[in-house]
Amino acid sequence: MRRFTGSGRPLEHVLLNRIGVIHDLWYKNAVIYCLNVETFLDSNGDGIGDFVGLTSRLDYLAGLGVTCLWLLPFYPSPNKDDGYDVADYYGVHPRAGTFGDFVEFMNHAQQLGLRVIVDLVINHSSNQHPWFKRARSDPRSPFRQYYVWSKRRPKGWNKGMVFPGVQRATWTWDPVAREYYFHRFYDFQPDLDAHNPAVKEELMRVMGFWLQLGVSGFRMDAVPFLIERKGSDVRPQRDYELLHDMRDFLQWRCRDAIMLAEANVPPDESMQYFGDHGDRLQMMLNFWVNQRMFYTLATADTAPLKHALRATYARPPAAQWGMFLRTHDELDLGRLTPGQRAAVFDAFAPEPDMQLYNRGIRRRLAPMLKNDRRRLELANSLMFTLPGTPILRYGDEIGMGDDLGLPERYAARTPMQWSADRHGGFSTAPRILRRAVADPIYGYQRVNVADQRRDSNSLLNWTERIIRTRKECPEISWGDWKILPVQPREVLAMRYQWNGRALIAVHNFADRPCAVRLRAEGPEGHTLTNLLSQEESAADASGRHLLHLEPYGYRWLRVGRLDRPLRGSS
Ligand code: GLC
Ligand code: CA
Repeated sequence: MRRFTGSGRPLEHVLLNRIGVIHDLWYKNAVIYCLNVETFLDSNGDGIGDFVGLTSRLDYLAGLGVTCLWLLPFYPSPNKDDGYDVADYYGVHPRAGTFGDFVEFMNHAQQLGLRVIVDLVINHSSNQHPWFKRARSDPRSPFRQYYVWSKRRPKGWNKGMVFPGVQRATWTWDPVAREYYFHRFYDFQPDLDAHNPAVKEELMRVMGFWLQLGVSGFRMDAVPFLIERKGSDVRPQRDYELLHDMRDFLQWRCRDAIMLAEANVPPDESMQYFGDHGDRLQMMLNFWVNQRMFYTLATADTAPLKHALRATYARPPAAQWGMFLRTHDELDLGRLTPGQRAAVFDAFAPEPDMQLYNRGIRRRLAPMLKNDRRRLELANSLMFTLPGTPILRYGDEIGMGDDLGLPERYAARTPMQWSADRHGGFSTAPRILRRAVADPIYGYQRVNVADQRRDSNSLLNWTERIIRTRKECPEISWGDWKILPVQPREVLAMRYQWNGRALIAVHNFADRPCAVRLRAEGPEGHTLTNLLSQEESAADASGRHLLHLEPYGYRWLRVGRLDRPLRGSS
């Protein structure tokens, strides 16, 4: 896809002002940080994190340098799926705080220049939602048609489960309604029918509500399922136009709000979510690249990653990939070949209880990489240099571990570790919602923010520096890019170019040192300046640079000098 606007001028030139700062399309150069309010900080000692706690740590987040927070669901909920079972779309869970607390939080975030996006979980509601309660108890209620029913048990009742091994069916008998209802996820999460005009109207109202309270958009849960036509006798088909309608509504209400989709689909299908003209969703999580990133980290074979990057290269000019290492869910490897998946399991999750749903890994990043600082830096540096917007998960900035004693995905959802105090400084309560990690390697006594703050060599300070540098390299997320042909094959070298500047990022996935020769290209290509240390490289007579990389080494190199004078205005 060519990055040109209707006027024939590259989009970036239309959106740039004279000194090269972009005010629009903020998400293109954002750094997103994702967290759950309930596991971040407890302000009132009841053992559960809350908005007052989070608000008091906004300075920490602003200092880290992130520019946008993605809040996992904090709505009233029976919390049987960590809040992804919503019982009221227009509220704040009382244990997370009041509406007043939420608005104060939004105000503080705004003061610090932090944007906020919230999870929009509308593929299904909780079975405790008043809509479902009315739907099941009265067949004539308009709410009945909010959900998807069948009088007889449909043929595929035990097919298409998202949580195999835990979830037994997708159609379950409801004794009150005396019908089967459809649920793509757990049985307490009945699917809403977004193609019912009344439901669609409600969904828009929910979006409008949170936009009016100041959020900058939504992380949209389970989009491929949301847009599916549902029913026992309906041929499964996705209606992408629903996304266009939502986008229209979004932009009428708030011109710079975005939607970030969770849609783990193959590259050619992704284009349907962005829309050919970029008229559907602005952002999608890049699961395709994510899975191959872990394959490469596990094996040092860069070929599938290069392939995945190229396969997700084309997209409309305003569209953007979200690049991430871990999320709150299992690391889903379902789209690798069986051989590739086995290699990742071997390296990062050899024990059965580290694996989940026959396809994924339920561990945190640091334990997967054996707490090897070189590999943690390599993985993060890679994520920050992939063409897209980086999404950091809370706790990964200090290398938090997991607790495999907790069920399913909860293993990697433990409280943030602030200090060596009891419960990692998360709460003063005697008992807390979910225990903090306390093992000898990753426990809060050893891994916490307070200690790492004071240690200039800590992972926390490294992360802060890499975020600052990343924000100074908009060519990564705005620019055009290509993969440079380099040897050995364990090395990935990418060159990004944008607005008259260029950058090269090089990553060595092997556990041994190597020498890499590359051509920097462009008029200033005779010099490469290391952005992370005092180092400059000059090209040899043939125009090539010789780089010596350590095992798991990486470089961020500006093409040309840093102190290039500004071009005079004419
Ligand atoms: C998404 C969420 C996951 C949740 C599921 C059902 O996949 O990321 O945590 O369980 O949707 O809402
Ligand atoms: Ca609390």
